[in-house]
Amino acid sequence: MPNITVIDRSGNARDVQADNGLSLMEVIRDNGFDELLALCGGCCSCATCHVYVAPEFSANLPAMSEDENDLLDSTDNRNDQSRLSCQIPVTDALEGVQVTIAPED
Ligand code: FES
Repeated sequence: MPNITVIDRSGNARDVQADNGLSLMEVIRDNGFDELLALCGGCCSCATCHVYVAPEFSANLPAMSEDENDLLDSTDNRNDQSRLSCQIPVTDALEGVQVTIAPED
């Protein structure tokens, strides 16, 4: 059950506890960050769960699928830290990770 720091679009940081087995998107949404819309519910088809993951954790993340890569390409605010949070399962490897909700497209 890792601790995760979520930074909202206003720059406010809050630490939350994440249950292993959920997706990062579910953890962010279930902790009341309404600005993460996650409109498709985690089906990798909307890109409204776009986040930036702190670079020191990139090696702890699963490889990006072609679908995720294509969807991120459709966003206006992609950078090297971009991931779709619905595609990242929570594991202990995420202990201490900092995740920033990307700007709305
Ligand atoms: S919730 Fe739609 S792509 Fe992640």
